[in-house]
Amino acid sequence: MSRPPPPLPREARLVILTGAGISAESGVRTFRDGDGLWERHRLEDVATPEAFRRDPDLVHRFYNERRRGLATVEPNAAHRALVQLEAAWPGEFLLVTQNVDDLHDRAGSRQLLHMHGELLKGRCLGCRTVVDWPGDMDCDSRCPVCATGAMRPHIVWFHELPLGLDPIYEALERCDLFVAIGTSGHVHPAAGFVEAVGPRCRTLELNLEPSRVASAFQEARSGRATELVPALVAELLG
Ligand code: APR
Repeated sequence: MSRPPPPLPREARLVILTGAGISAESGVRTFRDGDGLWERHRLEDVATPEAFRRDPDLVHRFYNERRRGLATVEPNAAHRALVQLEAAWPGEFLLVTQNVDDLHDRAGSRQLLHMHGELLKGRCLGCRTVVDWPGDMDCDSRCPVCATGAMRPHIVWFHELPLGLDPIYEALERCDLFVAIGTSGHVHPAAGFVEAVGPRCRTLELNLEPSRVASAFQEARSGRATELVPALVAELLG
C-alpha cells in the first residue's frame, strides 16, 4: 500500500495540464481514440505547415469544420470543476491546455494558457497579429489589422513551437502539485512536463487509461474526467 501523499502547503502552487480527454465527454473527438483520420487524411497530414503550403484550402476546410463544431458542444463537469478550483484556490494556479477548443474559456477559466493555439483565433501571415476569428477562414480572408495579409488558423501545427513555454516551465519549477488530465503523453513538450517539476512537487495523472507517461507520475487515477476531476477538486478544497 503506497504511503498517502504529503498534505499540500496552504498556499500550494498548482499547475494543471489538460488534453483532449477533458473535452471528450462534451463530444469533442480526441486525436488518438478512433482512427485519427479526417476525410481520409491523417491528422499529421493536415495539421502541419507543409500541408498548409501544399493545400491551404484543405487545411482551411479542416479547421472551418472544427470551428463550426464548437457551436454544438458545451463545457462539462470537469471544465466547471476546474473553474471552481481556480476561484477558491488561495495559492498560485495555472491551467495549461493542449486543447484548441474554447470549452475551458466558456466554462470561465481565467488563468488559462492555450499552448497549442485556439480554433476561434486567426493569425496574419503578414503582420503576424493574432485576432478573434469565430467564422470560416479561406485563402481570400484578409487580416482586419493590416488589411493585406492572408490568414492562417492560430493553431500550433506539428513541427512548430508551442506557445507560452517560458511561463509554463517557470510555473512547473515552482509548483507543489502538477495534475495532468486526459492527455495521452504522445506529444512533447507537454508529455515531458511531469519531468520538469521540482523535487517536492506532488504529481497526479487523471485519465481513462494510463497514459504513455503514467509511470512518471507519483499517482495515477483511472476513470472519466467528469467523475475524477470534480472528486479531486472536492478533495483539494476539503
Ligand atoms: N476522461 C478522461 N480521459 C479521457 C477520456 C475521458 N472521458 N476520454 C479519453 N481520455 C484520454 C485518453 O485515454 C487519452 O489518453 O484522453 C487522452 C486523449 O489523448 P489524445 O487523443 O492523444 O489527445 P492529447 O493527449 O490531448 O493530444 C495531445 O497531440 O495531436 C496533437 O496537438 C494535438 O493537442 C494535441 C496533442
